Amino acid sequence: MARKKLWGGRFSSDEDPLFAQFNDSLPFDRELLEADIEGSLAYARALERAGIFSPAERARVEKGLRAVWKEAVRDPEAVLRSGAEDVHSYVEQALHAHAGTLALKLHTGRSRNDQVATDLRLHLKRKETGIARELDRLLETVADLAERHPDVVIPGYTHLQRAQPVLFAHYLLAYGEMFLRDRDRLREALRRIDVSPLGSGALSGTVYPVDRKALAADLGFASASHNSMDAVADRDFVLDFLFFASVLMVHLSRLAEDFILYNSSEFAFVQMDDSVSSGSSLMPQKKNPDALELVRGKTGRVFGHLVGMLTVLKGLPMTYNKDLQEDKEGLFDAVRTVDACIRMVRRVLEKVLIQPDRMREAAVHGHLNATELADYLVARGLPFREAHGLVGKIVMRASELGIPLEELPLREYQSFSPRFEAGVHAALGLERTVARRKEPGGTAPASVRKALGAFRRRIRS
Ligand code: ARG
Repeated sequence: MARKKLWGGRFSSDEDPLFAQFNDSLPFDRELLEADIEGSLAYARALERAGIFSPAERARVEKGLRAVWKEAVRDPEAVLRSGAEDVHSYVEQALHAHAGTLALKLHTGRSRNDQVATDLRLHLKRKETGIARELDRLLETVADLAERHPDVVIPGYTHLQRAQPVLFAHYLLAYGEMFLRDRDRLREALRRIDVSPLGSGALSGTVYPVDRKALAADLGFASASHNSMDAVADRDFVLDFLFFASVLMVHLSRLAEDFILYNSSEFAFVQMDDSVSSGSSLMPQKKNPDALELVRGKTGRVFGHLVGMLTVLKGLPMTYNKDLQEDKEGLFDAVRTVDACIRMVRRVLEKVLIQPDRMREAAVHGHLNATELADYLVARGLPFREAHGLVGKIVMRASELGIPLEELPLREYQSFSPRFEAGVHAALGLERTVARRKEPGGTAPASVRKALGAFRRRIRS
């Protein structure tokens, strides 16, 4: 008995149930249902333009496809219950109930190979557009938070050691830059995904005179693919997304790590809102920054999906191989994860409480103005290297006395060098230290104000 499959003709025995379950992709590729129906609608129109469907046939198929979509919306589980092999088989089978053999005719010149490549591009393109919107919102949230705290000073760190004071807004805009680059990468991915493989057939092109350019335009793609073999074998657009997603997750995870640290009582620079924290089942005093810990943790699975997909592709002979069915689950998971993480980080930032006094306190202690002191000596003729050495010794002295550099008495300074004069303490003030970094890209309030304005414009461009 021939199998009841799209391809059953040449088979004499039934499928082993173990194989069927192993091979079937409907449980996960039903996520492509809307894209598959859209692709089929456009393909029906292309077949009409090619004279293969009459207008009446096309209309019947169109009506049938819309009915299939409606049924699926009403009862999503019915799709699964159908037991079809994959989403393409499901649509054909379900359409058959409405349009009879026209459902089979719709497959004229079309293979599931160009079909799945088209579906996945349509689907991912839409998801990418949504994620781009979320990213825009996150960028605005970062700008808003920076704008709300224009003069708050925070210690800047290297090696997680207090290094130099910076504006909190300056620090935040560093993340803004990362997210802007992420948006660039996403736009580039959107540009490359915008190609229609439909009309490539199984691998060698189609014998039917479908106008592939018109078909591409009908589906909202910028162009039609140039090579039928590449069209069905290519999943670079999946890699593009996963790479974008991985780098974005690096940035979200670094921000998460910073804020988890800053939220600890050791730092206490920020306070996570109760509504995005959770407690401990044992220790009543605990309020844990779970939202950000999850963002940091979920980064791993997104990296995993990128490496997984690279590995699936690396040894594939041309053109389509069933390995490519493995392109979906990781991708869908990455899409969901990234979307959720952007939204979560945004919510956390919208609600976070900033503790300017704690930040300032940390910036005052730890000799973050030591570089400033060296610059003071440089301005009085000492070569920087020598000034550096001398200030190192002064820092040691101040540490011994347990006081900040700006409280070290003048006579102490003068015991290190006669170049120190009465103005030295004024030169060491926190605000002054910050304000002196006024070249573009620096942390001076005037520069940061300008940078913030430019950042807003860049977000909106
Ligand atoms: N479910 C398949 C996939 O996701 C559809 C393409 C099947 N093509 C084939 N030649 N078996 O890749």
